[in-house]
Amino acid sequence: MFQTLKAQAPDKILSLMQAYKADDRDTKIDLGVGVYKDASGNTPVMRAVKEAERRLVAEQTTKAYTGLAGDPAFADAMIDLLLADTVQRGRIAAIATPGGTGAIRQALEMVKLAAPGATIWISNPSWPNHASIIKFLGLPLREYRYFDEASRGVDFDGMIADLSTVAEGDVVLLHGCCHNPTGANPTLDQWDQIIATLQKVQAVPFVDVAYQGFGDGLDQDAQATRKIAAAFPNVMIAASCSKNFGIYRERTGILMGIARDADEAKLTQANLNFLNRQNYSFPPDHGARVVTTILTDPALRADWEAELEETRNGMLGLRKQLADELRQRANDDRFDFIADHRGMFSRLGTTEAKVEILRADHGIYMVSDSRMNIAGLNAETVPILAQAIVDAGI
Ligand code: LMR
Repeated sequence: MFQTLKAQAPDKILSLMQAYKADDRDTKIDLGVGVYKDASGNTPVMRAVKEAERRLVAEQTTKAYTGLAGDPAFADAMIDLLLADTVQRGRIAAIATPGGTGAIRQALEMVKLAAPGATIWISNPSWPNHASIIKFLGLPLREYRYFDEASRGVDFDGMIADLSTVAEGDVVLLHGCCHNPTGANPTLDQWDQIIATLQKVQAVPFVDVAYQGFGDGLDQDAQATRKIAAAFPNVMIAASCSKNFGIYRERTGILMGIARDADEAKLTQANLNFLNRQNYSFPPDHGARVVTTILTDPALRADWEAELEETRNGMLGLRKQLADELRQRANDDRFDFIADHRGMFSRLGTTEAKVEILRADHGIYMVSDSRMNIAGLNAETVPILAQAIVDAGI
């Protein structure tokens, strides 16, 4: 049977991880996969996570199954973190999922069940796995303009023009904050216009929030999602705890489905539970329980928020330092966008050939579309990157 298999194209982010590992230069710099690293290049276990895990190990009395949707306390805590009191709890169905990717996959499977003909619209560019999963499920896919190559900001006019052509009932995937891969995000005023446009065409928003707390702060990063959640009868939201809790390998995420009313929410919940059952029965529990422990304990939550703020401010500092270095070394302000971008990534906006020069000549690894992980830098490597960018004629 297996001889009939076709080779699969490698995921460009994950294959970069392998290439970086295989490079034996000790000056190499990893700006590839979206994993936070501190100044010494470690991806630490957050203090509050360590403490929550210690408590779980000491106090947990069973490893018996949870419900198909996962622990309801996790859903409540995550809905509170992301949506606060924007939407009545009775209108929200939710399932725990294996990471943000699991939530995206389940959301797209929901579209298959509920609206099999609907086209899924994603930003151009978007996280590569979005298109990959949509195609894998055989769903119609289209792109809306998003990135302005010249300014490296949002091509807002192009975005609105394309979203105006979306058909009724189509699903529009939006990055709630910290756009991956570009780092460019709409302003809150622009979000209002995006919402008005999507309301007019009667689209269904699908928000992917993988970096809450990495941009302008936990509440600020939730503002666009909250506006969307409040504005439509049906919304899907996929949220990841991988980055903001630093629990990547625990696979902790959630899919929320906002329904018109409590009856529709029950039907939605039953379908979400069914999808979990079909795909993996019960979602992973450990990471979800760690998150719930942190979010429901005021002292642990305060400590988590403080460490997340340090992380966020560290990345902002690196952005500013890199923009400053480039302004000096290139004698030009065309890289100032790096300080304006938010989240873990910035798209430098250069060719694959120049990205390859950075890798071959300088051991600097970024994704071929010139997405760089800002958290892969530190105060010492910023000037090295800035000089390499100038030397490569970017
Ligand atoms: C990324 O975009 O680098 C991360 O979300 C990791 C991944 O799974 O691609």
